[in-house]
Amino acid sequence: MPRPKKHVFVCTQQRPEGHPRGSCSQFSSGDVMEAFLMAFQQHDLWNDYKVSASGCIGPCFTGPSVVVYPEGVMYIKVKPEDVTEIVETHIKGDQVVERLVAPEDVW
Ligand code: FES
Repeated sequence: MPRPKKHVFVCTQQRPEGHPRGSCSQFSSGDVMEAFLMAFQQHDLWNDYKVSASGCIGPCFTGPSVVVYPEGVMYIKVKPEDVTEIVETHIKGDQVVERLVAPEDVW
């Protein structure tokens, strides 16, 4: 299997109701993951790029959290409607979507 040009990790961590750390799943991260899967299909990205659901990757209360490697860019509060922009601008276009980047005090 060739190494992907970029690898997107979507946090889909679940925690029980009332857990002090919260979780990305309480912010509907599953819908964000579904949107990435759809976008990868629509843009025919599977040969060169990869997207994976992950456990907790950091800032749980600003989820859903998404990290793109190799750049190590963290996006927070990602909504399904943001996914097309991330795919077209960052994954395909190599430009960071600044409006969604986690500030340094978050990650
Ligand atoms: S639960 Fe998603 S970043 Fe912690």
